[in-house]
Amino acid sequence: MDKKIALLGMGTVGSGVVNLLRENEDLIHSSSGVRFTITHILVSDMVKTRTADVSGIRVTDDITEIENADIDLAVEVMGGIDSTKDIINKFLKRGIPVVTANKDMLAVHIDELEETASENSAALYYEAAVAGGIPIIHTLQHSLNANRISKVMGILNGTTNYILSKMTFDGWDYNDALKDAQAIGYAEADPTADVEGIDAARKTLLLARLAFNKKFTLDQVNLNGITNVDIKDIKLAESAGLTLKLLGVAEDLEDKYNLSVEPIFVDTKHQLANVHYEKNAVFVNGNMIGEAMFYGPGAGSYETASAVVSDMINSAVITAKAKNIPEEKGEPATELPDSAYYLR
Ligand code: NDP
Ligand code: HSE
Repeated sequence: MDKKIALLGMGTVGSGVVNLLRENEDLIHSSSGVRFTITHILVSDMVKTRTADVSGIRVTDDITEIENADIDLAVEVMGGIDSTKDIINKFLKRGIPVVTANKDMLAVHIDELEETASENSAALYYEAAVAGGIPIIHTLQHSLNANRISKVMGILNGTTNYILSKMTFDGWDYNDALKDAQAIGYAEADPTADVEGIDAARKTLLLARLAFNKKFTLDQVNLNGITNVDIKDIKLAESAGLTLKLLGVAEDLEDKYNLSVEPIFVDTKHQLANVHYEKNAVFVNGNMIGEAMFYGPGAGSYETASAVVSDMINSAVITAKAKNIPEEKGEPATELPDSAYYLR
């Protein structure tokens, strides 16, 4: 099954998507039966040198060209809030499914976009929007849906966790650590959202929305970032057996919901105290599963692309099932690997 893709944005995440698709094309085809062809890429700067190979792809800065193109799926990894929501709405209204990594936009517009999607037999996928490579969105939507969830809590921002880890373990100062996080591609285009806790608040809202099946607005999240964190706080905490972490918390307190993002001193024996650098972790408390922890990369080019492409595959497979298109996945195994292979 061949799927034509428009990729909106080709920065850290978009380049990861292009490279991942080239590298794992055969594997994806053999496991899912889907072959993706990126036909169009939207950028803002037509002169910029691109690190990923875009040969054979129409690269443009004209969104109307893409809005009218013959595509099966739109992948939005460019950022922006209101204007980007309008673009996504147009695709959904044409019945074209959309994959997005854009939590800034989703935290404000997800309810409207999901409504448009459902009215137009389209779908919106956003695994990459929370905790980068950790499949927490799919987990809440599909794997823990037999639970009444009372709490979701975690380290949801890679940039701030990277800064705090660099200050704690490597003796770096705040500004150098932030610059490094920007250079690697963890930070947002404007890192204010990272360090002020706004990015984590957006993710906390998206998790709470799924966990409690309720609508929330950003002003319901109590917010404190790490801009006032001092190396003295970190050292003092260390001497008391504590580690400073920026935690997003969403709790169902039965009579009300508590949503917050703030720096919290965590006992070093707690698993969250041992989640370092760009890594994220999410704890979920469900009335059947008890407590479960999900750990992995919270940001980065390939790590985030992994989540984006997984959404692309799921979208293609679900669309094919809905349209009754036969699967063509899997090749017969030519030889059995020796059992030791599995033990290594
Ligand atoms: P970048 O800033 O690296 O890339 C953005 C890309 O979008 C660039 O290619 C840019 O074009 C293009 N672009 C931006 N605005 C426009 C516009 N108005 N018209 C046309 N093209 C535009 O961002 P990231 O790749 O880091 O992030 C992309 C999205 O993914 C964001 O929503 C971010 O929050 C989210 N995200 C990022 C993660 C990360 O680890 N970086 C992790 C999870 C989610 P040009 O190249 O010409 O400048
Ligand atoms: N800037 C974000 C972070 C990217 O540092 O976590 C991933 O959402």
